[in-house]
Amino acid sequence: MKNFVFSNQTRILFGKGQIANMTAEIPDDAKILLIYGGGSIMTNGIYDQVTDALIEYEYHEFSGIEPNPSYEKCMEALDLIDEFEIDFLLAVGGGSVVDAAKFIAAAAYYNGEDPWEILARNEEIDDAIPLGVVLTLPATGSEMNGNSVITRNEYKEKLSFSSPLVMPVFSVLDPQVMATLPKIQVANGVVDAFVHVIEQYLTYPANAKVQDRMAEGILLTLIEEGPKVLQNQRDYHACANMMWSATMALNGLIAAGVPQDWTTHQIGHEITALHKVDHAQTLAIVLPGVMKVMQSAKREKILQYAERIWGITGNNEETVLQQAIDQTVAFFESMGLKTRLRDYSIPASTIDLIVERMENRGDINIGENQLVGVDEIRKILEVRS
Ligand code: NZQ
Ligand code: ZN
Repeated sequence: MKNFVFSNQTRILFGKGQIANMTAEIPDDAKILLIYGGGSIMTNGIYDQVTDALIEYEYHEFSGIEPNPSYEKCMEALDLIDEFEIDFLLAVGGGSVVDAAKFIAAAAYYNGEDPWEILARNEEIDDAIPLGVVLTLPATGSEMNGNSVITRNEYKEKLSFSSPLVMPVFSVLDPQVMATLPKIQVANGVVDAFVHVIEQYLTYPANAKVQDRMAEGILLTLIEEGPKVLQNQRDYHACANMMWSATMALNGLIAAGVPQDWTTHQIGHEITALHKVDHAQTLAIVLPGVMKVMQSAKREKILQYAERIWGITGNNEETVLQQAIDQTVAFFESMGLKTRLRDYSIPASTIDLIVERMENRGDINIGENQLVGVDEIRKILEVRS
């Protein structure tokens, strides 16, 4: 295990009715910008719960954040922030709304030319508006981390940044909000969280027993509870277990001291940027390709994964490795996600384009051993065509 510093400053308010309690976390004199998406919170009662809780506060609203939130939309919030001297952001939504709020929080105090530089050049930020979250879709882990992924539509670029300054001050996780999720969003959430765990686990052994077993615990919980939530979105305990799994999957805990491999996410973001495929669906396409093409570098951990997650053992290691990949694909498909490029009508020409874009941006020689170069990226996509 490598040396590490672990801290996480987000306070979690978990459980039924917790939206009403969030005001204890917001300064009394805060001027709040309430940020939300396309309107699902209007029809499922979450907007009413939030505005009831904010009754004593001065708040303004900024809505219409899209899935895969855009730079262009986020920038529209900056005038409102100036006009009303906003000093607290409240994101109410899924990962897209939370990520948008984080970018807005950083962009509002950015001193350079264009806040896009925070994403395009990894420009450090030195201040951000504090933000709180009411999560409506468990998937990304954005509610308890400092990451944000933003798309610039004009350039078809989907890029991320990370800063402790945009970690939510608090996040409300009430599993009851999941009752109104479209089934495809439940499936997306399970698969996104699953792949987050895999990318911090399926690398090489680091003698990090606690991190491995926590990762395996989250994977097993997602495999057990994900289908239950799909069956019945009012099963409170299944929803609660799925929600907490997604948060724990990407809040830094299982990443502490271990190698990581974000190849699947990096390639996946290219697919979304070019073809607007949902984030988790890109992961369902790419991960099996990463497992296949990089299987010799990941051999020991894939064998561990095969045995501890799927109960697959045997003398023929090649067969076990293939069965682990097949089980992973079967799980994604059982949740309702398709796993091949052709299932989303993505043409073969996209493979060349992705390789070229990643090479031009310098997003090559990635993965836990920097072994994923141009040829590997191409092969990963080709085996998933
Ligand atoms: O816009 P509204 O009307 O709210 O509808 C949303 C949206 O259409 C709907 N929805 C959310 N909660 C609902 C609901 N509908 C009914 N009832 C509810 N309770 O679901 C749709 C999808 O929402 P979105 O926020 O886009 O989904 P998700 O949470 O999967 O977020 C995806 C975004 O997060 C990024 C992805 O790249 C993508 O842009 N990620 C962020 C990460 C992070 N910050 O750490 C890590 C992830 O790997 C990921 O990259
Ligand atoms: Zn993800």
